[in-house]
Amino acid sequence: MKSAWSAPANIALVKYWGKTQGQIPMNPSLSLTLNKARTFVQAELVEEDNKNGPFELHFQGQRASEKFQQKFLQAWLSWDSLWPTKWPGKVLLSTHNNFPHSAGIASSAASYAAMAAALWDLQRRLKHGDVNSSADWVLADYQMASELARLGSGSAARSIQGPLVSWGEVEGRINSSNRFAHCLKDEVAAENLQWKDAVLLIDAGEKSVSSAKGHALMEGHIYRDARIKQAQNNWFATLNALKQGDWQKFAEVVEEEAMSLHALMMTSRPSFVLTHPKTWLAIEEVKSFRKVHQLPLTFTLDAGPNLHILYPATVAIQVERWIHDLTREMRLTTHFDEVGDGIRVEAH
Ligand code: PMV
Repeated sequence: MKSAWSAPANIALVKYWGKTQGQIPMNPSLSLTLNKARTFVQAELVEEDNKNGPFELHFQGQRASEKFQQKFLQAWLSWDSLWPTKWPGKVLLSTHNNFPHSAGIASSAASYAAMAAALWDLQRRLKHGDVNSSADWVLADYQMASELARLGSGSAARSIQGPLVSWGEVEGRINSSNRFAHCLKDEVAAENLQWKDAVLLIDAGEKSVSSAKGHALMEGHIYRDARIKQAQNNWFATLNALKQGDWQKFAEVVEEEAMSLHALMMTSRPSFVLTHPKTWLAIEEVKSFRKVHQLPLTFTLDAGPNLHILYPATVAIQVERWIHDLTREMRLTTHFDEVGDGIRVEAH
């Protein structure tokens, strides 16, 4: 029995930073799901003894590295109690990304979302008989896949659906959860969600401090409580700005979030810096282009130096022409992406 799915990366507007045991986020986050940068996973259940390992993992056509195998094993163990049916054989997983490591896109969200989708699909078929169609997922299936993805990598919970997704408990909102993400597509007019994301690749090198270490440093952080309050407020502010199509407010909050994320890193004990001088130069360029042309564009940062420039599809021609000039001048490469709907079934 085989199942093939893909999942995209996502970019957080309101950042998830800090977690407790079991990938429970310290604060709610809100993100746009991307479309082009995707991980493809094929999962096959074979009748083979699984005593010497429940799975085999291949990445880009080769046996996955020991580091990836170990990380995946942690996720696999955390999924154990969530499977409705015990795996009756071994699971062969083969995964590849359609974007290079050097695209400046964090691959773990796309990767764990695609793994979760393919494995959950196999579980559904084990339960209901080997139906070929994977198209009849209901809300509970998306929630399960999001929960599985979260246990692999927190932000992966938000790559299951799109284009606007929330994860983590939001004060006063019943439909919010720390376990899985919620899709907020129906709360905002479709034309206000037509965003594009140009990722300026500033440095493709290995991060000096991993996200896992960064999350852990939030535990005793001097700004911890203030950060939780800020994220709760910014969650509502971002959603309202999107609903109202208020691009000035949107830019204000999204940029505050990016700056706050990196300020938290710079004020951790020990402190660390993940930006690069070119990150700051590019930010200045965005601000001056916006001022001169009065266009609705903004920027954000992940846990790294690469700058995400966000702009509505309506101004894409003008903005992309400028990005091409800017990146030629700064000697940078760019990954152009856009918002999308999350996981999808792929041909086997
Ligand atoms: O999913 P993780 O554990 O790699 O954490 C990602 C955290 C940020 O990318 C910095 C923010 C976010 O909400 O995606």
